[in-house]
Amino acid sequence: MFFLGIAIHGLLFRRVAALTTPSDEQWAQLNQTVGGRLYTSLPLAASCFSTVNGSPSTPNATECALVQQGYTQPDFRSTHYSAHMLPQWETCQSTVQRCLLNSNDPSDPTAWEDSECWQGAIAPRYVDVRSEDDVLAALSFVNETGIQFSIKASGHDYKGRSSFGSLSLWTRNLDSLTYSADFKPEGGNESYPAVTIGAGVPFEDVYSFAEENNITVVGGYHQTIAASGGWVQAGGHSILSPLYGLGVDRVLQYKIVTLDGVVRTVNKFQSPDLFWALRGGAGSTFGVVLESSMLVEPQMSLRVASISFTQTADNARGFLELLVNNSYKWGQEGWGGHMGPATLINVNPLLTLEEAQTSVQSVVDYALAQNGTAVVEDLPSWQTFFSKYVESAEASVGVQTILGSRLIPTNPFFTDDDGQEALVDLMVKMVDTYAVNPYIIQGTPFLYNYTEGTTSVTPAWRNSLWQIGFHENMAYNATLDTMYAQYKIVNNITSWMRELAPDSGAYFNEANPYEPDHEVTFWGDNYPALLELKNKYDPFKLLDCWMCVGWQGPADQRYSCYLNISTNY
Ligand SMILES: Cc1cc2nc3c(=O)[nH]c(=O)nc-3n(C[C@H](O)[C@H](O)[C@H](O)COP(=O)(O)OP(=O)(O)OC[C@H]3O[C@@H](n4cnc5c(N)ncnc54)[C@H](O)[C@@H]3O)c2cc1C
Ligand SMILES: *[C@@H]1O[C@H](CO)[C@@H](O)[C@H](O)[C@H]1NC(C)=O
Ligand SMILES: *[C@@H]1O[C@H](CO)[C@@H](O)[C@H](O)[C@H]1NC(C)=O
Ligand SMILES: *[C@@H]1O[C@H](CO)[C@@H](O)[C@H](O)[C@H]1NC(C)=O
Ligand SMILES: *[C@@H]1O[C@H](CO)[C@@H](O)[C@H](O)[C@H]1NC(C)=O
Ligand SMILES: *[C@@H]1O[C@H](CO)[C@@H](O)[C@H](O)[C@H]1NC(C)=O
Ligand SMILES: *[C@@H]1O[C@H](CO)[C@@H](O)[C@H](O)[C@H]1NC(C)=O
Ligand SMILES: *[C@@H]1O[C@H](CO)[C@@H](O)[C@H](O)[C@H]1NC(C)=O
Ligand SMILES: *[C@@H]1O[C@H](CO)[C@@H](O)[C@H](O)[C@H]1NC(C)=O
Ligand SMILES: *[C@@H]1O[C@H](CO)[C@@H](O)[C@H](O)[C@H]1NC(C)=O
Ligand SMILES: *[C@@H]1O[C@H](CO)[C@@H](O)[C@H](O)[C@H]1NC(C)=O
Ligand SMILES: *[C@@H]1O[C@H](CO)[C@@H](O)[C@H](O)[C@H]1NC(C)=O
Repeated sequence: MFFLGIAIHGLLFRRVAALTTPSDEQWAQLNQTVGGRLYTSLPLAASCFSTVNGSPSTPNATECALVQQGYTQPDFRSTHYSAHMLPQWETCQSTVQRCLLNSNDPSDPTAWEDSECWQGAIAPRYVDVRSEDDVLAALSFVNETGIQFSIKASGHDYKGRSSFGSLSLWTRNLDSLTYSADFKPEGGNESYPAVTIGAGVPFEDVYSFAEENNITVVGGYHQTIAASGGWVQAGGHSILSPLYGLGVDRVLQYKIVTLDGVVRTVNKFQSPDLFWALRGGAGSTFGVVLESSMLVEPQMSLRVASISFTQTADNARGFLELLVNNSYKWGQEGWGGHMGPATLINVNPLLTLEEAQTSVQSVVDYALAQNGTAVVEDLPSWQTFFSKYVESAEASVGVQTILGSRLIPTNPFFTDDDGQEALVDLMVKMVDTYAVNPYIIQGTPFLYNYTEGTTSVTPAWRNSLWQIGFHENMAYNATLDTMYAQYKIVNNITSWMRELAPDSGAYFNEANPYEPDHEVTFWGDNYPALLELKNKYDPFKLLDCWMCVGWQGPADQRYSCYLNISTNY
């Protein structure tokens, strides 16, 4: 019954979309309205290929060399409209039409010599958005023509939500960034120290700006995530979140053009319903965010523990046991960080250096016994930590990567012997069965004093200590069968996590793209209210995305490039 409903709806939608292809004149009119900033797009590596979208094309060796150089660089990707961090979202996976280089060696000519370059899932036209007027013009065009559109900031999305459609609004160049020691949310009489960040600004710019202003902004573990884009609208974890909360906890105000074509300044005093929805309901759902304002902390020094050793079949379990056994204590002491079977990079703003050394002594000893390295040191600020540790350790980009993850409840997995053992067993099974390492993030708001009802993320965030994720990398030239097999591995591992803690949830931004029961998993009992607000602020259903609030389902034409992966393996 359910599937039938989706299929019929999809057919109707397709008919409407097909009937309403805009004329050249209409496109030209839109271009004029947005100041000539409507562009056509080609795949990032198109200049390397001699056949592009089915037609002969003259390669440009100069341009192709630049693309090779920048291929795995986040700054290069985030400043090119057609590039995404996870390049499978540039491709049409179901038809294996793509235009990729070999991410292991971008200069490998076999990538383009015997292949054709296809547009894939990249929207063929985009507006380089510079103002709210551009957004209003584009939305009214979408409304009149019935075309499908998407919104892209940095292209970090793990579910392809920033690709697809006939038109994209590219917000990367909304680059304003200001700091006020007494920022007042409109309509209220309270003030806070806050930064106001344009929708395209990458975290690396926010962090250096914070350093200049002697403040700390709580943000993500990667240079180019857009601070006011998908990160803050769906959750936003940081390794400072255990003390200072998620991105959604710290946001004070959004400026947004909602899909009904109204520019709104939204906070706890004005449109509080929409403010709540934007604090977790996710990007690409209620409108186009122009900027957000976030609470900041004073400049703070950090104790940093950085540990690594060479992983073997024999030494992973012992380290994972230590991590599981210590994490509750570490949580209470204020630590946050990223860990794996043979690595740890954790930070703590509360402890003294001596206390920090004592706290992590057991893992330091373990690593040294494996002839590994261990540093426990004091750094003066988040920016000094970020540039010393994160830029060299952040997740890689330019590689087709499937992510899966679930939130792991504190109780019983960190408080009870059996729970701890089950958690260690799960992680060891990942390594043993699929050679997939758990990517552990201690970045839940463990000590944060949350005010009930203020955000719409799944409540599972509030009683979890870890997020366990993992990366499954697909070769640039993987066959359809291989891709299917790899997505199924991701399904299998996430199903183990689900069986371990069925009532928990997952972080919308970083979950398996085929997570079943997505409404409950990502939003818990917040979902019905979110859906009501989606219908209120998107009355003409201008925007839809994969597993988003109000999702029209996988049968819609815009999802035809997603693989049809059954979650009932
Ligand atoms: C390498 C890597 C590291 C990561 N590290 C972290 C981390 O440390 N912490 C964490 O919490 N997450 C992390 N993430 C996940 C990240 O937060 C999400 O991918 C997030 O959605 C990225 O948002 P974006 O706007 O930069 O990306 P995009 O792909 O451009 O957009 C993501 C989604 O938000 C929508 N969107 C973007 N801008 C707007 C806007 N202005 N208005 C409305 N909708 C918008 C898009 O349509 C899309 O649906 C990481 C991702 C990657 C690839
Ligand atoms: C939009 O107009 C600009 C300036 O006139 C032009 O350079 C650009 O090619 C046009 N875009 C499209 C898609 O035609
Ligand atoms: C080739 O690419 C370079 C670098 O982008 C550009 O300057 C040049 O004009 C291009 N050449 C041709 C023939 O398009
Ligand atoms: C802020 O407004 C509230 C309610 O309007 C009022 O009770 C409070 O006294 C005001 N606070 C300040 C500092 O003006
Ligand atoms: C949370 O509130 C308690 C009680 O008011 C306080 O002792 C604690 O410091 C607060 N925690 C944080 C991280 O602010
Ligand atoms: C879409 O069209 C409807 C009527 O057809 C109109 O009321 C609404 O304001 C339009 N929305 C936008 C964003 O232009
Ligand atoms: C920076 O902020 C810290 C913490 O608030 C303060 O102790 C220090 O004096 C400030 N430094 C400067 C140069 O303002
Ligand atoms: C972790 O705790 C469990 C249960 O208390 C114990 O059996 C195990 O030996 C501990 N492991 C390590 C490495 O301390
Ligand atoms: C560490 O190095 C020493 C000296 O080279 C060697 O004897 C020992 O076996 C190594 N231990 C491990 C766990 O590799
Ligand atoms: C993919 O590319 C690599 C490196 O160029 C090559 O060794 C491999 O055979 C290719 N695989 C497929 C399935 O074409
Ligand atoms: C996933 O798990 C099922 C059930 O254990 C198994 O039959 C299947 O082979 C697994 N799939 C992959 C790709 O490993
Ligand atoms: C995926 O495949 C299943 C089984 O063949 C089918 O029932 C379902 O409709 C398909 N879904 C989509 C979105 O095509």
